[in-house]
Amino acid sequence: MKHLIDIGDLNVEEALTLLDTAEAMAATQSRRVKKLPTLRGKTVVNLFFEDSTRTRLSFEAAAKRLSADVINFSAKGSSVSKGESLKDTALTLQAMGADAVIMRHSSSGAAHRLAHAGWMDLPVLNAGDGTHQHPTQALLDAMTLRRHYTNGGKPAEAGTTLEGARVIIVGDILHSRVARSDVQLMALLGAHVTLVAPPTLVPVGVDDWPCDVVYDFDEALSKPADAVIMLRVQRERMSAIGGGFFPSPGEYHRAYGLDILRFEKLPESTVVMHPGPMNRGLEICAQAADSSQSVIVEQVNNGVSVRMAALYLLLASKGTINE
Ligand code: CP
Repeated sequence: MKHLIDIGDLNVEEALTLLDTAEAMAATQSRRVKKLPTLRGKTVVNLFFEDSTRTRLSFEAAAKRLSADVINFSAKGSSVSKGESLKDTALTLQAMGADAVIMRHSSSGAAHRLAHAGWMDLPVLNAGDGTHQHPTQALLDAMTLRRHYTNGGKPAEAGTTLEGARVIIVGDILHSRVARSDVQLMALLGAHVTLVAPPTLVPVGVDDWPCDVVYDFDEALSKPADAVIMLRVQRERMSAIGGGFFPSPGEYHRAYGLDILRFEKLPESTVVMHPGPMNRGLEICAQAADSSQSVIVEQVNNGVSVRMAALYLLLASKGTINE
């Protein structure tokens, strides 16, 4: 594996290696000294052309816990605002001695372009590209679900899959790179995935995805699920094309929100997930988000371990994770 761009590039063995390495990384994070020397001397660039809280901070934390130096680049305040191209930005990063680039971009395919255009010869980690892919989010979601599905929330045994798990993903599928990546990874690992959304928020071509699609949330919930993943309604992408995807926020919440009535009917074993940031009161009620069934904070925590694993596997020379 040279880059981490698209979950579709992974086979089961590679996905399990990433998840098992993330568990090994998580085990190091309960030590008094969390920092490992593994990437000492390496420089990682966090190249963010789009806003982020969780992904940017956790990639930074992951790189620093592996002893890498981190350069943070935000398009706001950079020469991108003067018209500098992605190519010239890439050439600048390579010239500065970067060893890997983590990139978030609003354009689908931007990470693939950066990795394969021949502008630079560095590993690229996709931190989210447009509505296309968010591979480390899918990995942290799979890590969180694998723990709960196979081991009551404790670290999962190496090599375990999601075979037989039932996952419901609800909401703005159309604009969601998380949904695309989650469906691919969870299906690869043996889970059965059902998407729930209003017809206006279901992308063209979804019939080719390895999942079912239903339009009635209550129908999907009539069969017990191991996880319900609520997606953020991406109002910024909707307003850019004039809105009109649902009649009103109240109506969306009643039909597609995890409201208090639906939440109270969930089996106790069903975990509630959300990639964040949440629109409380729109796709998820506060009672569900803050409940003991919510694993949303665990997802954030596992994100650091998954990103440590990805950086380690792409950048470290052979050896153990403590070297
Ligand atoms: N889940 C996620 O990608 O969150 P951020 O946009 O805050 O990075």
